[in-house]
Amino acid sequence: MNDDFYRIQRLPPYVFAEVNKVKAAARAAGHDIIDFGMGNPDSAPPAHVTEKLREALKDPKVHRYSLSRGIQGLRKAQAAYYQRRFGLEFDPETEICVTIGSKEGLANMAQAISGPGDVFIVPDPSYPIHTWGFVIAGAEVTPIPNTTDESFFTNLKHTLDTAPRKPVALVVNYPCNPTAFSVDLAFYEQVVDICRHYGVYILSDLAYCELYYNGNPPPSILQVKGARDLAVEFTTMSKTYSMAGWRIGFAVGNKKLIAALTKIKSYLDYGTFLPVQVAAAAALNGPQDYVDQLRAKYKSRRDVLAEGLIAAGWDNVVIPDASMFLWLPIPKAYAKLGSLEFSKLLLQQADVAVAPGVGFGPGGDTHVRIALVENKLRIRQAVRNIKHFLSEDPQKHLFELEKAS
Ligand SMILES: Cc1ncc(COP(=O)(O)O)c(C=O)c1O
Repeated sequence: MNDDFYRIQRLPPYVFAEVNKVKAAARAAGHDIIDFGMGNPDSAPPAHVTEKLREALKDPKVHRYSLSRGIQGLRKAQAAYYQRRFGLEFDPETEICVTIGSKEGLANMAQAISGPGDVFIVPDPSYPIHTWGFVIAGAEVTPIPNTTDESFFTNLKHTLDTAPRKPVALVVNYPCNPTAFSVDLAFYEQVVDICRHYGVYILSDLAYCELYYNGNPPPSILQVKGARDLAVEFTTMSKTYSMAGWRIGFAVGNKKLIAALTKIKSYLDYGTFLPVQVAAAAALNGPQDYVDQLRAKYKSRRDVLAEGLIAAGWDNVVIPDASMFLWLPIPKAYAKLGSLEFSKLLLQQADVAVAPGVGFGPGGDTHVRIALVENKLRIRQAVRNIKHFLSEDPQKHLFELEKAS
């Protein structure tokens, strides 16, 4: 029997699983781990949305198969959101597809548009499905450094000029997971210009567009004139309304890409449970004060954590303008460990779990990512633990780590 499954062979061991193993062992030994590892929102969704779900469940007809591209009411709600937020009109029939979370949308878009040997350009580090979606689909990924200055355009053009085969698409994600980098519309204008010149599609992941803290709402790439000729954008209910488990996201933009995604999804799924779609439409169409409150909550967590870490002596802490992450360089004394070993050390010595940057690509190995998913009380406790850890002799910790391995 052949168990060299082609797609499985292409996937490396899951980096985060290693940290999870250490985390589980520490918990089993009675440690209270403060867990900043996964970007898993900890708030309840808006009350009127869960109420809508309850109400929708009462209709006996809602338990049947739904539509894989999403019910029309939800596609219309997403069109209204783009109009309200970005001043853009999209046709809910041809330019919008509901997805089972944006991760599913990204993965199935990769399936839809990849052929054997096709090349996709993905910044490194990046949210894993941006890379692995194409790898699973049988395509090749050419990474470029995840930067937001002039070097991004230079690297992009160089990659496009030298690629042995013309790349099909570029992925962008701002505000970014894991780096928390943000960009302005001028950045997107250059990206669109370059991709149009080379005939390359753009897949933009806008998961964190409502989590911003400087009064400047992040732009959509689709606001660039003519961007819908070559770009599609993914958004999600997971972060904006803390509905991560509900599995609702969207793809919006280029008709050909939306048609490709819609077609492949029609073969693969029947859409998210209908009452969930009805409640998601209520979230988009209803009052938005929840989003303001959520933003304020993440902002105050960000401030407590960033200020605490700076005071604790963590060097080069960058306070992000948006996203739900802090992207922290590994302290100098531990830099040679790399992000995986450093994450294990922090877990063992400070009871704090973070995501090792290498889990997002080799370009992330100099950093760890902290998700703002613990409350302020626990953030303060984590800061105290980290302060104690940083005040101790690194040689002692390195010795402990060696002993444990
Ligand atoms: C950048 C980015 N895109 C997409 C997703 C997936 O979101 P969803 O819950 O909509 O699948 C995440 C989740 O953390 C993310 O960080």
